[in-house]
Amino acid sequence: MYFDSHAHLDDRAFDADRDEIFDSLADHGVGRIMNIGCDLSSSLRSIRLAHKYPFVWAAVGSHPDDAASVNDELLAMYRQLCADERVKAIGEIGLDYHYEDPPREVQLPAFRRQLELAAELDLPVIVHEREAHADGMELIRQFPQVTGVFHCYSGSLEQAKELVRRGWYIGFTGVVTFKNARKAVEVAQWMPLDRILIETDCPYMSPEPFRGRRNDSRRVPLVAQKIAELRGVDPEVIEQATTENANRLFRIE
Ligand code: NI
Repeated sequence: MYFDSHAHLDDRAFDADRDEIFDSLADHGVGRIMNIGCDLSSSLRSIRLAHKYPFVWAAVGSHPDDAASVNDELLAMYRQLCADERVKAIGEIGLDYHYEDPPREVQLPAFRRQLELAAELDLPVIVHEREAHADGMELIRQFPQVTGVFHCYSGSLEQAKELVRRGWYIGFTGVVTFKNARKAVEVAQWMPLDRILIETDCPYMSPEPFRGRRNDSRRVPLVAQKIAELRGVDPEVIEQATTENANRLFRIE
């Protein structure tokens, strides 16, 4: 059974066929999903999905795109939402310097304050970090008691080694199946088996041969198959390990 550790199935891209997708997951071997918030409304939608489906759990938080919204009032809302038994993580939070909108001066305190919340509530975090490697690592080093996953990993092997040493997990998407995926491939081959998570990040990051099309959780086995191929093991090895890893990180069962 596969665990999609990072999905946005609340996205409006699924409004026409969401129930159909959830009803057919089992046919594709997908048994568990972590649905991720990006702001208050998607966090609330994630919790709603987690109450509707027993195999879905929720993460709440503000993505770097939403960093300008992070203030005392919003953090108090997130703290309250985390009391819900279906909420298992803070995320996705982090830094994105690709477009840098909002600017890093806004993103950095939003990330820091949500790491503080995770420390306070003893919850794992789901980190989105793009082209902000130095600042991202600098901040997580300041919170040694907080761990979680760097999702859709795009950093170096050196950074991955430090994350693993610090107790973190690394999440791989369909990017590992892309022809130009040099860094993600190198990291996926090196990773200790007990720290790998697989994810779709749907509706984005569709694996080959569906690159560029809308993604959904039914394609997470393709990510596991590619990692298995890269490591020269049976897909079942990756399937079992990544599900155990997600259960351990998110403290499910
Ligand atoms: Ni995401």
